[in-house]
Amino acid sequence: MSDMMQDIESVLFSAQELDAIVARLGAQISRDYEGKNLLLVSILKGSIVFMSELMRRVTLPCEIDFMAVSSYGSSTESKGKVKILKDLDINLEGFDLLIVEDILDSGVTLFNLMEILSVRNPKSIRICTLFDKPERRKADVKADYSGAQVPDAFIVGYGLDYAEKYRNLPFVGILKPEVYEQK
Ligand code: IMP
Ligand code: MG
Repeated sequence: MSDMMQDIESVLFSAQELDAIVARLGAQISRDYEGKNLLLVSILKGSIVFMSELMRRVTLPCEIDFMAVSSYGSSTESKGKVKILKDLDINLEGFDLLIVEDILDSGVTLFNLMEILSVRNPKSIRICTLFDKPERRKADVKADYSGAQVPDAFIVGYGLDYAEKYRNLPFVGILKPEVYEQK
């Protein structure tokens, strides 16, 4: 932890603040999906911490599944097209699908994912993102549920990585630019 802390410029959201954000989203989703056939789909790996907390804040019966797509690799800029690395196990037909994502940045990942998933005939499809960087949007995507807006800085922790590291930090912090500018 102390090693990782040296790479953090400042803490944006403490563990307690994140808990409150996720509780609010869980309550909202529990209200909105009453009587529906909710399927939470976590986009690996960034959303696993968010997903595990969020699903425990959803008070309705629901199912979960996971999907992995390639976006950034170890760089901090989006490449364009999305590749499916791990597909869903569940057939989406009849489900009210809620995509659970860590952060909506350029929107390219979710835009492409929405296209892929909507042709599989879910009853409905919505996006729940923990963080949103609206200034960076390139693709036409909007989150139906958003935990918090964040500034145009590279953030890590609570599932979010830089080059696969820092995911296990229990808070969200801004990564020092020199960490990724060195590489
Ligand atoms: P988009 O296609 O540009 O919206 O990229 C979304 C993906 O990029 C997210 O799922 C994250 O994996 C990654 N990403 C974007 N911004 C950050 C950040 O500040 N920290 C860590 N990962 C990020
Ligand atoms: Mg991700």
